[in-house]
Amino acid sequence: MLAVASAGMYLYETMKASVMTRSDHAVLARLDHFRKLLQYDLTLDTLQSSPQLFENMLDSEDDIFIIGEPGKAPVIMVNPLHAPLPPMPVVEPNQPLSVADLRSGLVNPGVPLRAATVAAMSGGKVVHLTAAHLAVKEMATLASFRNRILFSIALAFALTAGLGYLLLRRGLRPLRRMAEHATAITPARLDSRMDSSDTPVELQQLSDAYNGMLDRLADGYQRLTQFSADLAHEIRTPVGSLMGHCQVALRQPRTADEYQLLLASNLEELERISRMVESILFLARADDAQAALNRQALDLTDELQRVTGYFEGLAEERRMTLRTSGDGHLDADPLLLRRALSNLVANAIRYADEGSEIEIRVVEDSQQCRIEVENRGPVLSDSALGKLFDRFYRADASRHQSSDSNGLGLAIVAAIMRLHGGEVTVSQPVAGRICFTLAFPAT
Ligand SMILES: Nc1ncnc2c1ncn2[C@@H]1O[C@H](COP(=O)(O)OP(=O)(O)OP(=O)(O)O)[C@@H](O)[C@H]1O
Ligand SMILES: [Mg+2]
Repeated sequence: MLAVASAGMYLYETMKASVMTRSDHAVLARLDHFRKLLQYDLTLDTLQSSPQLFENMLDSEDDIFIIGEPGKAPVIMVNPLHAPLPPMPVVEPNQPLSVADLRSGLVNPGVPLRAATVAAMSGGKVVHLTAAHLAVKEMATLASFRNRILFSIALAFALTAGLGYLLLRRGLRPLRRMAEHATAITPARLDSRMDSSDTPVELQQLSDAYNGMLDRLADGYQRLTQFSADLAHEIRTPVGSLMGHCQVALRQPRTADEYQLLLASNLEELERISRMVESILFLARADDAQAALNRQALDLTDELQRVTGYFEGLAEERRMTLRTSGDGHLDADPLLLRRALSNLVANAIRYADEGSEIEIRVVEDSQQCRIEVENRGPVLSDSALGKLFDRFYRADASRHQSSDSNGLGLAIVAAIMRLHGGEVTVSQPVAGRICFTLAFPAT
């Protein structure tokens, strides 16, 4: 709208200037012409005898022409509109005329006038010629031109506003649809997605990102639901068994020894529940990624020694040997690293074949530092291997009811590795051997 308005103003001013210049030159040309005529061909007396000859030479009402001797009544006086003339200098007979000799006046209503006076020698007398032009027609043309420009500006205003409104409404329709869609999203309706086929390219990215966000939310929500279902299921079993024991015991009077036995078994079950709750809390906190790491420079030889020392007794009970090799350094949270290592070694002792050997190796290169825990054990299918790190997953179905296995140990290892920016993987180098690898990025 601004551009149309400025272009219109510019055109109007240019046109006005060129019209005025043309009328100026017409006045000057007329004066020049008659000065020569009076000087060489026509005397004032001839003019006086036939003034109508001259009046016919002028074509319109807008021109003023006055010829006469200075100080006397003019011989020719053409001024149909009786316009007043401004004071003007007289240009001497031998001097050339220029635009600078013209003077401006104003005739009602708002019509400009341009006039000049020259002197000429005609038949030995000094004659003054005055010519002027009233820009009546020019002003009318300019006024109609100006009106058209104003109309165009108004039209441009209206069109821009109207079209802009329509285009914006049309262009933002996908956004409105997205808002409606978002309003309709509830936990129960997380599976609905925006149809982005007719979305303009500018909004395609937004709608894709929006759908991606819904995918992630639905996935997280689904996992959370699964997790709480698993949790309820896992807690129900030990609680049910506790209740069963108590009900049986209460059916008839028991001896002190029997009560003691019951309490001891109940305590074991309660300890398992307590361990599970603690593990779940740990996982929940690790998911929040809020758990601030207390990183320290660790010597892995010391750490391995500490863990193997702790598990030596248990290993001996199952006639197993723990063998460590390699050494390295790591920037990690010592408590969390020990916890991850303990979980792996505890698993190895629990699931490896009796009398076998458990190897713990440290491998360090420029890219990463790896800790591998390898043992002989059952052959697991690929799908079982893929699920080992899931919460509550146990590969051996018969252990589901066992009182010491929760299926949370490896999930905790995975969470600890995520916190450290590393990862845990499992592989079967040969059938019957299973190897867990903790890979830390090099410090
Ligand atoms: N070293 C291993 N050798 C063979 N199987 C293993 C080994 N480590 C883990 N597994 C299998 O992976 C499953 C999941 O292990 P995880 O440590 O997560 O749970 P868990 O040992 O059953 O219980 P928790 O560690 O919570 O007491 C185990 O039940 C077992 O079947
Ligand atoms: Mg375990």
